[in-house]
Amino acid sequence: PSSSSPVEIRTHSSLRPTTVFCMASSTAFLLLLVAALHVCCCRGQGGHAGTGVAAIYSLGDSITDTGNLVKEAPPGAFETIKHLPYGLTFGRPTGRCSDGLLMIDFLAQDMGLPFLNPYLAMNRSFDHGANFAVAGATAMDPADQFNGRFSMPFTANSLKLQLRWFKDFMKSTFNTDEEIRKRLQSSLVLVGEIGGNDYNFALFGNKNVSEVEKLIPAVVQTIIDATKVPSQVF
Ligand SMILES: *[C@@H]1O[C@H](CO)[C@@H](O)[C@H](O)[C@H]1NC(C)=O
Ligand SMILES: *[C@@H]1O[C@H](CO)[C@@H](O)[C@H](O)[C@H]1NC(C)=O
Repeated sequence: PSSSSPVEIRTHSSLRPTTVFCMASSTAFLLLLVAALHVCCCRGQGGHAGTGVAAIYSLGDSITDTGNLVKEAPPGAFETIKHLPYGLTFGRPTGRCSDGLLMIDFLAQDMGLPFLNPYLAMNRSFDHGANFAVAGATAMDPADQFNGRFSMPFTANSLKLQLRWFKDFMKSTFNTDEEIRKRLQSSLVLVGEIGGNDYNFALFGNKNVSEVEKLIPAVVQTIIDATKVPSQVF
């Protein structure tokens, strides 16, 4: 595949070939939803660059993924993003669907924090947060997509799964819910960008625009609900 955008990615041969608009996944759909749940700019601990933000926790798709998909992908899959020019700015491919920095990277930089490590890169530091975003992820769970009328071609990395990772991560990193709440008070939690792939996969499945439009309320509601989860579970 050429390196021009949008990038065509072929999935594992046992799966249906699928095109994922890496990078462009959702910009085509004007649904850029970045919900900042907790930003404490006052007395956060471990504050950097005067922002008081000690950590960033992030959910999303290819626009935010800093390396989860390539960790998870079977050998031979998603080869495109494993090679230059992807990661040119870093001098090596990082798993980002970009040759350079993502929005999440600029946010981290501005807050004086290191770049966010992907959650699935288990051996890295998560002292300043973790990134649960996976390229190709949908907002809605595959099982809920189209009420079962349309099956997701390959990804199961929906918000539901990412939220479970987030919860498991916080529970295993901190001793008590009280500690988690304290941490979140000085953290930035980003939900998104996500949702574009829900429409992408429907369109790839030859749904027409009016059918895809019918998905919007459920997709948006799923994202809204996801933003509430951290404050509900901890
Ligand atoms: C994990 O990190 C430690 C310390 O940097 C290193 O010794 C070890 O080889 C790493 N393990 C893996 C699986 O990369
Ligand atoms: C979209 O698809 C539905 C279901 O197949 C069909 O009923 C409808 O007429 C189509 N709409 C357009 C604009 O093609």
